Amino acid sequence: MNRELVFFIFGGTGDLARRKLYPVLQNLYRKGKLRGLRAVYALGRNVDRIEEYVRSLEGDFAKLIRPFEFDVSRRESYDRLGAEISGMGGAELILYLALPPQLFETTILHLGSLMRKFSNPRKIVVEKPFGFDLSSARRLNFQLKRYFTEREIYRIDHFLGKVPIQNILSVRFSNYVFEGIWNKNFIDNIQISALEDIGLEGRASYYDRVGALRDMVQNHLLQILSFLAMEPPAVMEAERVRDEKVKVLSSIRHLSESDIDRYAVRGRYRGYLEELGRESNTETYAAVKLFIDNFRWEGVPFYLRTGKRLKRKVTQAVVVFKEVPGNFGRLLGCVPEQNKLVFEIAPSNRVMFFFEMAPPEGFLSCPVEREMELELAPEGLPEAYETLLEDIAEGNQTLFIREDEAELAWEVVQPIIDRWSQEGDIPEYEPGSWGPKEAEELIGRDGRSWIVV
Ligand code: BG6
Repeated sequence: MNRELVFFIFGGTGDLARRKLYPVLQNLYRKGKLRGLRAVYALGRNVDRIEEYVRSLEGDFAKLIRPFEFDVSRRESYDRLGAEISGMGGAELILYLALPPQLFETTILHLGSLMRKFSNPRKIVVEKPFGFDLSSARRLNFQLKRYFTEREIYRIDHFLGKVPIQNILSVRFSNYVFEGIWNKNFIDNIQISALEDIGLEGRASYYDRVGALRDMVQNHLLQILSFLAMEPPAVMEAERVRDEKVKVLSSIRHLSESDIDRYAVRGRYRGYLEELGRESNTETYAAVKLFIDNFRWEGVPFYLRTGKRLKRKVTQAVVVFKEVPGNFGRLLGCVPEQNKLVFEIAPSNRVMFFFEMAPPEGFLSCPVEREMELELAPEGLPEAYETLLEDIAEGNQTLFIREDEAELAWEVVQPIIDRWSQEGDIPEYEPGSWGPKEAEELIGRDGRSWIVV
């Protein structure tokens, strides 16, 4: 079948479009992975910017970009767009909302009613943040579903496009040595850290509205948690994989107010308010302890943390195994280390396994911790957006967030949002540190400490 494909990038003159979407589309096009691509419409109010950008591009791809003046809040823009689509025959339309979140709803309403006039196959892509809280996420889903079917909706979480995160499933479900012990009997705790050295980087107006919990925990960290905790899908189909993630998210224990005070910590780096130039109740750091109340994970704490202006950029998931009963090291009067399996997502793409071995002096001396390290791809991996845009073009929804998944993830963080909105006191931490001391205390009370390797 000879399909024709047309991309419409709403927010087409924006930062995401220029930094990620066009370069990635260009790359995919060069590799012949965008079958039937006819055009990429760059819709925005300032088309001069996009024309200037197009001039800087080389090759055939530049000829496919169509700057198109567009104001998402004006009817007239949609009328002109409709006229354009009328001339496209039966082409498949990919409507990509790379917009500030406050413009999602109005764009969906206008665009949705415009699309009712056409029978072209279509997909709508919605960037994060998907809603601002549980109720706005529900409303957004409701609006989307008025005009589009779930099969046509692609909710983006760019972390799922990262191969080192996908690799969690590959490692778990292809190796008996891991999957066989992947449960509460052998795993002591799991830690997921997404630490960043950058601060606001010109995104203050967005970031100060959301904060660390909404920006990272609700989406990226809970997605990593789902991959670490889910059951294997029975078949490799998008719906079956997403069913398993949904089961995990719906098994996360909801935190009561008193749990939240013990299990959740926020922080703000010193200097944030000065940078912002006004008062704010926004956290730049969040840590939380969660439990998954199901057969596999009963009683195993999952510690999640993320923050800005920390010591260095590192994104890791660390699976910490229990100590062996009758541990050999203990028999020798030594302090043993626990086995750890580490998925490093940034800065590099490694998997590391830490285990104990005899030292050169022989088995009667304390075992020493040694490390096995495997890199996924020393030459680098495809950009997360490359995987995702190719999947959108091909219609594979495995790595996109389903309606129920988005809402369940909000249900996990909503009680924390509510609790924090009642309290004004945000602990400060030093820029360049590992975060507030309260986060050390959170995990320290359990006799553990945060691990990054
Ligand atoms: C984004 C957040 O979703 O993820 C940013 O909005 C954050 O605040 C970024 O910096 C981190 O992504 P990555 O791919 O750089 O680890």
